[in-house]
Amino acid sequence: MNQKIAFFALFSGFILLLGFRFKSVQEISKYQYPHHVNISWATDPSTSQSVNWRTSELQKEGYVEYIEAVATPFFKEKVKSIKAESDSHPADDGLWNYHSVNIPDLKPNTMYSYRVGNGNFWSEWAEFRTATGENEKFNFLYFGDVQRDIISLGSRTIRQAVLTRPDAKFLLFGGDMVHRGGLNKENWNEFFQTGGWAFQNFPIVGTPGNHEHLIAKSGENLSAHWGLNFTFPLNGPEGHEEETFYIDYNNIRVISLNLCRYKYPEDRATILKWTEERLKEFTGDWVFITHHYAMDASARNRKPGIRFPDFKELYEKYNVPIILTGHEHLYARGRMDGKFPIYVVSVSGPFQNAIQFGDWIERAGTSLQLYQDIEVSPDKIHYVTKTVTGEIYDEFTIQKDKKGKLIFTESKNLGPESLFPPINFGNRYNQQLVDTWEKDKNDYLSKKNK
Ligand SMILES: [Fe+2]
Repeated sequence: MNQKIAFFALFSGFILLLGFRFKSVQEISKYQYPHHVNISWATDPSTSQSVNWRTSELQKEGYVEYIEAVATPFFKEKVKSIKAESDSHPADDGLWNYHSVNIPDLKPNTMYSYRVGNGNFWSEWAEFRTATGENEKFNFLYFGDVQRDIISLGSRTIRQAVLTRPDAKFLLFGGDMVHRGGLNKENWNEFFQTGGWAFQNFPIVGTPGNHEHLIAKSGENLSAHWGLNFTFPLNGPEGHEEETFYIDYNNIRVISLNLCRYKYPEDRATILKWTEERLKEFTGDWVFITHHYAMDASARNRKPGIRFPDFKELYEKYNVPIILTGHEHLYARGRMDGKFPIYVVSVSGPFQNAIQFGDWIERAGTSLQLYQDIEVSPDKIHYVTKTVTGEIYDEFTIQKDKKGKLIFTESKNLGPESLFPPINFGNRYNQQLVDTWEKDKNDYLSKKNK
């Protein structure tokens, strides 16, 4: 009997050991495959594509293989290969190698297939199309803060946006893509799981939010994960590369400004000067500027006021049409002092704030998950804000006349505004802000109806 028990215990132990061993082998293999794969641009979108991915530290090298896309699956012998730059990085969830490649010398308006990996561990083949370089109509998608509960709720906005606009040329993120930019667990791991295959097919462009910095309150120390996860242009001012930069996509210029540095006078002056140079030299049709902090602090629990009057003046001087921002966790759109630009504050994730109804706001929204679908033609911008469930929440056009004058036209079909404060409004805000909300809302609505 004792012998039987001993044998059974030994056998069970052996099976358990095998189980653990099997699991760990599986885990080890799993992370040798490329993950967190995303494409973007470091150089011209009509002739290049940057690719980033992560593997376990066992994969010291990485490669991208690519070829002009063909319908036949028998193309593997003809692919070109480029070795990645690989950096090892210890993080909260282990030691990883981050790989990046900028694929050069591509043909404009051409679909390519690519995969990334090494040895026995490769991603699936995915496709991207280079920009045409022509001034033709196209769309791109914009997302305000995703930030919290990324998989649980943030993901649905990104999925719905690419499902309703599958021909979008890129996905623009206005910062706070995650809540803790220095952490993978619950942050970058969720963001890239959310993006999945979409981030392999739609180029991502992003501007850093305060939460991508290690000290979110002050915008200090951009997390190393920013540079490891993405390959953006190095054309920003010295010391600000990949955070402040521009991308010329066909006839538009997209400018990312890391104004999380606005409290540092030297950085602020450098970014301001650089922005003016980029605006002055631009000869294309439209400029879109994105920075995380909104021009006006519109969240009800923040001190109201214009954050960067110097940038406001610059935007007005150069007649910039739209500034895309976030950070406030609500929706607000309007012009200040009746002038361009149109400031947009939006949010794609679930964390929401109550609003303070600034004078400049022409359309507001709270307790909504939203994204922007922006159509650009040489003489017109057609801007649509959609809810995650597909309703049009805001819509306008900016038409450029022959003399270059901008004409703003709001859609006549907009429904009532959703102004419900978040469900925990009463607990999160001081009593005075709660007590005055109803009156402020009514004042805002009656002013609009005059
Ligand atoms: Fe923020």
